[in-house]
Formats: sequence, C-alpha cells, structure tokens
Amino acid sequence: MGETMEDINQINELNQNEIYIVEATKRYVFEQLKDDTSGHDWWHIHRVVSNTIKLARLEKTANMFICVMAALLHDVIDDKLVEDEVEAVEAVKQFMPEQSVTTEEQASILSIICHMSFKGGQQAPLSTIEGFVVQDADRLDAIGAIGIARTIYYSGHKGRPIHEPELKPRENMSFEDYRNGKDTAIMHFYEKLLKLKDLMNTESGRQIAEGRHKYLVEYLEQFYAEWDAER
Ligand code: ADP
Ligand code: NI
Repeated sequence: MGETMEDINQINELNQNEIYIVEATKRYVFEQLKDDTSGHDWWHIHRVVSNTIKLARLEKTANMFICVMAALLHDVIDDKLVEDEVEAVEAVKQFMPEQSVTTEEQASILSIICHMSFKGGQQAPLSTIEGFVVQDADRLDAIGAIGIARTIYYSGHKGRPIHEPELKPRENMSFEDYRNGKDTAIMHFYEKLLKLKDLMNTESGRQIAEGRHKYLVEYLEQFYAEWDAER
C-alpha cells in the first residue's frame, strides 16, 4: 500500500502521537480508495500529501498535522466517489475521535475537506493557511502532465470522447451540468484545468502552477496541430 510514503516518519514537524494517527488515517483512506478507477485512487492522495508537505514547509506558518490529515481525507467524502456524501462525512466524524484527534483539530480538518473541491468553481473560498495549502496541493495534481493523464482517464471512465470539435467549453454552468452534461476531455481543460493557475491561494503554489500550466498550453497547441494534420 503506497509503501513509498515512508516520508511520514520523516515529517519532523509531527510528534510521535501525530505520526501514529497519520499512519492509521493512511490505512483508513487506502482501504476506501484503493479500487478507484476515476483518477482519485490512492496514488492521487499520495501525490497530494507530497505536494502538501512541500507547500506547508514553503509557507512556514501552516500546521503540518492539520495539513497532512486534510490531504489524506480530502477525497473520501467526494460526491463523485461516494454514494452518500452526508454518510461519508459522518463516517469521518466518527473515525477521527477514535484516533484521538482533538475536537479543535477535527473541526479544522472537516472544514477544509468539506469546502475544498472545485465543483465547477462554485465553492465559497477557504479561510485558513492549512486550507489554502491543501487546496493548492490538490489543484497542482489537476494540472501539468499528471493533470492531463487524470482528465483523459476520467473522461474514459465516464464513457466520454477525447475531443468533439463542434462542442465548445461551457461558461457559468450549473453543478448538474458540470457533473453530468455533455462533456469531453478537451472541454474540461477550459472548464477547469486552465482556470486553476489564477485560483492558487499560496505564492509557492502559484509558482509551481505556472510551470504546469505552461505544459497544458503547449499540450493543447500540439494536440490541435496533430488533429489538423499540421505537425
Ligand atoms: P471537482 O470538484 O472538479 O470534481 P476534483 O478535484 O475531484 O474536482 O476532480 C479531479 C479531477 O478529475 C479533475 O482535475 C479532472 O482530472 C478529473 N475530472 C473531473 N471532472 C471531469 C470531467 N468532467 N472531465 C474530465 N475530467 C474530469
Ligand atoms: Ni483530490
């Protein structure tokens, strides 16, 4: 199980008790997401945790325990992935006290994971540095080379085409349309991926996003050139 996340023991910012809780949370999340085939599998969580640790260190004031816990738990309540979102939140609410996470920490973690998803750009903004870090870490995994792979993979999972030249990206769509409307992988670049660079919360996140965004733009340029047999 994602054994290479050996770094948990090397997160110097965490004390022994926190390391223990993080290990248990890692197992809890792995069990729930290990069979996912929509691009929200364990390795997505693993990458988001790695991005989170990096950004939390660069941002200096973020509480590492809250950041890592929220990164680990951020997708186990996702409406795309669970049948009943309310029930999934209840399960997390039950899990955390069992691990002796303090009431205050539970509230911070829950408020991040319940409010950080893009959902077509309709969510209210987060308000803590820990929330900013984890949301940026998740957004970084939606752009660049990995973002492209996940988008095409998700589209295939939904039975959608790679590209339909006559379909144009949608603006101001409802959440229903964002989730279930007629969509293609290439449309999703315009409806989400290309917007993320300007939505980053932290300066360190923004800098990494610049490079990944550039890669998206170059990819699209090459894609259209090949589509039109120009290259
Ligand atoms: P959202 O709140 O937009 O669902 P997620 O972070 O859960 O945010 O989405 C994760 C990733 O899943 C996206 O970055 C993208 O790669 C993929 N994805 C989500 N919706 C679509 C879609 N309609 N078409 C293609 N890929 C999608
Ligand atoms: Ni995610």
